[in-house]
Amino acid sequence: MKILLLGSQGQLGQELQLTLPSIGEVTAWNRADIDLTDLDKIVPAVVAQQPDVIINAAAYTAVDAAESEPALAHQINAAAPECLAQAAATCKATLVHISTDYVFDGQQNQPYQTDAATNPLGVYGQSKRTGELAIQAATPRHAILRTAWVYGAKGKNNFVKTMLRLGAERRELRVVYDQIGSPTWAYDLAQAITQLTPQLNEQTFGTYHYTNSGAISWYDFAVAIFEEASVLGYRLQIDHVQPITSDQYPTPAKRPAYSVLANEKLARLIGQTAPHWRVSLRKMLQENLQPNTAIQHDHEGANFIRR
Ligand SMILES: NC(=O)c1ccc[n+]([C@@H]2O[C@H](COP(=O)([O-])OP(=O)(O)OC[C@H]3O[C@@H](n4cnc5c(N)ncnc54)[C@H](OP(=O)(O)O)[C@@H]3O)[C@@H](O)[C@H]2O)c1
Repeated sequence: MKILLLGSQGQLGQELQLTLPSIGEVTAWNRADIDLTDLDKIVPAVVAQQPDVIINAAAYTAVDAAESEPALAHQINAAAPECLAQAAATCKATLVHISTDYVFDGQQNQPYQTDAATNPLGVYGQSKRTGELAIQAATPRHAILRTAWVYGAKGKNNFVKTMLRLGAERRELRVVYDQIGSPTWAYDLAQAITQLTPQLNEQTFGTYHYTNSGAISWYDFAVAIFEEASVLGYRLQIDHVQPITSDQYPTPAKRPAYSVLANEKLARLIGQTAPHWRVSLRKMLQENLQPNTAIQHDHEGANFIRR
C-alpha cells in the first residue's frame, strides 16, 4: 500500500511516521514539501504520487488565533482538504482526514455519536466542519476521524507541555473545570489510524471518533499531570491548582462545555477499545523524560517495555 502522509512534522504526523510503515510504504510531506495554502498545486502534486491512501494530519490548529485569521484557517482546514479529496477521487485513493470535537457545540451531556448534529462555536471548528463537508461531497472513499484534546511528547505546544512548564515555574495555577472532554495521546491516535486504514472499503468508509477513554475537565487533567509527573521525578514548584469557570478565563474562541466523543464505532471495526487517558498520560510523561527512546507497550498498558 502506497501511503502519502501530510502534516508529517505535527505532533500526530511524527507519531504516524513511526506507526504507518507497518502497513505500507510511506511518503511523508511537511510544509516544505507542499504548502497547503498553494491550493492550485495540491491536486497535481498528489496525483503525481499515485498513492493508495492519503492521510491528512496537517491543519491550522491555533484555535484562538483562528478567530483573527478566518481566511487562512478555512484555506488550510477546508479548501486544502477539498483538494486532497479531489486528488483522492482522481487516483481512486482513500483519504483519511483528521477532524475535531470542536465541530460540536457542547450542549449534550452524553458522548457525541458520529452522526450527531454539528454546530461549531468558533472559526477553527467551523473551518474543520466545512472541510468535512467538502470531503464528503468530493469522494465517498474517505474516513473522517474526529479526535480531541491531543497531546504528545513530540508536540511543540499542547496542554501537558504547558502544564509542565508552568508547574515548574509557579506555585499556583488556575484551570477551567467547566469544559469536559477526553485527552488523547498522539501515539494512541496514530496506532488507531494505522489499524483503521487497512480496514477501509466500500462498507466502512465514513466518519469515526477516536479519543482515549474516560472524560474529565481541564482542571482534573492538570491535577493528574502534576500527580503523575511528581511520581516520575519531574521538578515542580506547583502546590495548588484552583478550579475556575470559563467565564473567569476568557479566550478569543468559545469552546464546547462538553465534547466527549463516542468511540464505539471505531472500536468495533478495529477490535480494540482505546486505552484510558490516565494510563496513556503516564506513558507520555515517561517518554517525555527520555525523548529519544522508542517505546513499546501492550494495549492494556500493563507492560511497558523500552528499547
Ligand atoms: N491538537 C489537538 O488538541 C487536536 C484536537 C482535535 C483535533 N485535532 C486535529 O488533529 C490533527 C493533527 O493535529 P496536531 O495536534 O498534530 O497539530 P499540529 O501539531 O499543529 O500539526 C499540524 C501540522 O500541520 C502543518 N501545517 C499547518 N499549516 C500548513 C500549511 N499551510 N501547509 C502545510 N502544512 C501545514 C504544520 O506544519 P508546521 O510544523 O510547518 O507548522 C504541522 O506540522 C489536525 O487535523 C487537528 O485539527 C487536534
